Amino acid sequence: MALEAHSAAIAAQFDYTDDQVNSAVNEFRRQMTEGLETDGTSLSQIPTYVTGVPNGTEKGLYMAVDLGGTNFRVCSIQLNGDTTFNLTFSKVAIPRELMVAKTAQELFAFLAKQVELFLQTHHEDHFEQHVRRRMTMSSPDGYKDEHVFRLGFTFSFPVQQVGINKGTLIRWTKGFDIPDAIGKDVCALLQDEIDKLHLPVKVAALVNDTVGTLMARAYSAPGKASTVLGAIFGTGTNGAYVEKLSNLKKPLSGEYDKTTGEMVINTEWGSFDNKLSVLPNTAWDAALDKASPNPGIQMYEKRVSGMFLGEILRLVIIDLLKDPKVSFFRDENSSSNDWKSTTNIVSDSSIYTQWGLDTAIMSVAAADNTPELSTLRGELEKQLGIYSAGLDDAQAFKAIANAIGRRSARLSAVSIAAIVLQTGKLTDPAYADEPIDIGVDGSLVEHYPYFRDMIYEALRTIDGIGEEGAKRIRIGIAKDGSGVGAALIALVAAGMEKRLTTADYLGELRSNAKRNNLTVVPEGGETAAQD
Ligand code: GLC
Repeated sequence: MALEAHSAAIAAQFDYTDDQVNSAVNEFRRQMTEGLETDGTSLSQIPTYVTGVPNGTEKGLYMAVDLGGTNFRVCSIQLNGDTTFNLTFSKVAIPRELMVAKTAQELFAFLAKQVELFLQTHHEDHFEQHVRRRMTMSSPDGYKDEHVFRLGFTFSFPVQQVGINKGTLIRWTKGFDIPDAIGKDVCALLQDEIDKLHLPVKVAALVNDTVGTLMARAYSAPGKASTVLGAIFGTGTNGAYVEKLSNLKKPLSGEYDKTTGEMVINTEWGSFDNKLSVLPNTAWDAALDKASPNPGIQMYEKRVSGMFLGEILRLVIIDLLKDPKVSFFRDENSSSNDWKSTTNIVSDSSIYTQWGLDTAIMSVAAADNTPELSTLRGELEKQLGIYSAGLDDAQAFKAIANAIGRRSARLSAVSIAAIVLQTGKLTDPAYADEPIDIGVDGSLVEHYPYFRDMIYEALRTIDGIGEEGAKRIRIGIAKDGSGVGAALIALVAAGMEKRLTTADYLGELRSNAKRNNLTVVPEGGETAAQD
């Protein structure tokens, strides 16, 4: 009983009330405006130079790579032009030592190598040409342009973008830390390593995963209201949305098309409210932040995303284990354990190490509704070396884990709501009864049970949204969105390159948009990388 009461009291510390949600939405909107006006604010609001979203008719074969979390993905995408596509991909875990390598070159050489392996496995035709060329030539030049793959580079860290394939790294997040890369153009770093391997690949576009998700969702689910937000709730969290150019007050350095009147903005909302004026802050949040490589930064992300939820829970558990007043994962004797054994934690359990509790077990806890919580207890044993946990222990674990997960979902509703309200579409008669479409991706929103339901529950309580508004908000998964989205942006870039000048290209974009009566990226780039 003591444990039950104690864990309920801890869980209550993770409550985030309707009132708190509402004030956070107001503060989020204030910080959004601030970020559109000035550089260097908490919410970065990075202009992406992408000025339209696709309409599903785009065609061509493109490559995309994705660096942004635990894995590096390489893919090729055939856009079929009828809102469908075919995707081939490979995935490799990033060795931890490369996430904190001494030089950027070490990491990017590894990435280029994966591109080479991918071509070898999945595009033998291209690869053989490359081997022939490597044997006969010392330079990668001389490929026929149409044999060069255009590659969209999804790089999911805060980048100061200065053009469609150019941008410098502002700071690392999500456990990466290679100071040498800060301030460098990440596209050039990748292209240099690709060139060293003489691969027929051109880094054509630089894309944040949220921008890619927005593009992919717009391509697959076109509609009158089109997609307003692409968001990631995975290892990290962030969102990109379509903003009116008239609201973007800070100066832009690169060229862009002004005719659509819009631009996609990468909010970098992971750093919303770093000053903690509205974000909750338990003792465990504070401890996590203090021990992280970037204290005081990404404070919203540290309360919402998959990389951190498990660590918050781990810190709570460690405190409970140390508390002599509660008997947690500990039995006086076998009679106090419903399995008539005594609980044991192996001495080298990863529960004792930072990041040692994988957030995935929280999904298991939330999903396990068996009377004895036997699935969860099995996982505690398998993943954490906690043997014969009692039912009361598992219940306490589940109650605390659920509270952390629920708080994450309610906080997620804050950014979604603020952006929906910012678009003004809920009250615009031109969009009456149209869905407000949102594309999401990431392990948390995909695998955490009822994550979206908990988001909707919070959305319904938000001023200006309510029951009716929440019904119109359509949150749909855009699986692998960032790869497809990067391909779509590579297509735009290839189209821009193909034409003599940007102005010619933009002229066509304008007339196509007029013809389709839509703000779209037109068909183009069909010839790129096709044999
Ligand atoms: C982190 C990165 C951001 C990315 C997000 C999701 O917040 O800073 O760029 O979009 O993770 O991967």
